[in-house]
Amino acid sequence: MLRYLTAGESHGPGLSAIVEGIPAGLHIQEEVFNEQLARRQTGFGRGGRMKIEQDRIEVHSGVRFGVTLGTPIALWIPNRDYVHWEDRMRPFGQPPEEVQPVTRPRPGHADLAGALKYGHRDLRNVLERASARETAMRVAVGALARALLAAFGIQIAGRVLQIGSVRAPEDELTLEEMQERSEASAVRCTDPDASEAMVEAIRQARLAGDTLGGRFEVVAFGVLPGLGSYAQWDRRLDGRLAQAMMSIQAIKAVEIGAGNAVAQLPGSQVHDPIFWEEGKGYLRPTNRAGGIEGGVSNGEKIVVRAAMKPIPTLNKPLQSVDMATHTPFLAQIERSDACSVPAASVVAEGVVAWELACAMVEKFGGDSIEQMQQSVAAFRREVADR
Ligand SMILES: Cc1cc2nc3c(=O)[nH]c(=O)nc-3n(C[C@H](O)[C@H](O)[C@H](O)COP(=O)(O)O)c2cc1C
Repeated sequence: MLRYLTAGESHGPGLSAIVEGIPAGLHIQEEVFNEQLARRQTGFGRGGRMKIEQDRIEVHSGVRFGVTLGTPIALWIPNRDYVHWEDRMRPFGQPPEEVQPVTRPRPGHADLAGALKYGHRDLRNVLERASARETAMRVAVGALARALLAAFGIQIAGRVLQIGSVRAPEDELTLEEMQERSEASAVRCTDPDASEAMVEAIRQARLAGDTLGGRFEVVAFGVLPGLGSYAQWDRRLDGRLAQAMMSIQAIKAVEIGAGNAVAQLPGSQVHDPIFWEEGKGYLRPTNRAGGIEGGVSNGEKIVVRAAMKPIPTLNKPLQSVDMATHTPFLAQIERSDACSVPAASVVAEGVVAWELACAMVEKFGGDSIEQMQQSVAAFRREVADR
């Protein structure tokens, strides 16, 4: 079983994670983590913090000379900004007298709900952990998962489909096309015209003191059939992917395959016919199911999309109420992005990679990559004969 937990506050000393269950013998280099961390930090619409952070991974256990040991992997990403926050964020001692508690909850953030839940009077105790800073660690954990999947020929790519009202064509692309075109775009969109229009839309929103959300897609190429299960509700691969995607801050809807469109289409246009050819085996001319039927991967690409709300910190603030005095105020402005959809798409790639890695380890077990590879090869032979 694979599992991980993250810890860390946005302006605390750093983020940590312990990842357990990664089989022994997986080759991984420091740069693999750092490349993914850098991808999360780019994208038009991101704020000043991205320049301060420049995230770098520290691996404190479980990897020796670039190879996993099969033991817990401890990851650490220092918060470079902590030097400026130490007086307000240190675990012991007292805050400086001039630092007032945060008492003004921002609409759309966890501030109010979190303060009511935990009884905090200083909203910083909520917002520090609820912040999407935590997603940096999810990207690092995702880098491990991607390396595991790559050992079995499974690759993950993502792209932005929509920002605000600007929509890109949802054309089918190869892995290479998706990767090259999304990396070349300031907003991770594979269509150059839509990409330009998205940049302009973000610019306009920023000028108006507003923010924009959008939609993005993550595709897993080379997935084997048989991941997940229909046997129990919590083993369904679509359910697990949806939960994982929804757990990303600001994600409000998830689609698999044709997604929302299935509500309006007749069945003949929703389901994918099955063919069989000598030497090729089973073939599906379409992939409206997004690679999952009955909660089980069917061997096609897995296609997951998600909608992200516009980030809630606005320069054109909404009304809120001070929790100390109950007086109304216009929500305070903190340093913020105007649009984080491109960054969220990178987080989602990592999150999808993690869920698929979990499903691979569950199906093919093994304490080492070599054992898993033997098991995968045997399964591939079995499937080819059916
Ligand atoms: C990658 C990423 C970056 C984000 N950056 C910001 C930001 O700069 N400012 C902000 O107000 N919200 C930002 N958010 C969204 C908030 O974290 C999120 O809306 C908030 O924690 C409340 O959670 P909820 O929207 O899931 O209810 C970001 C989300 C993601 C995924």
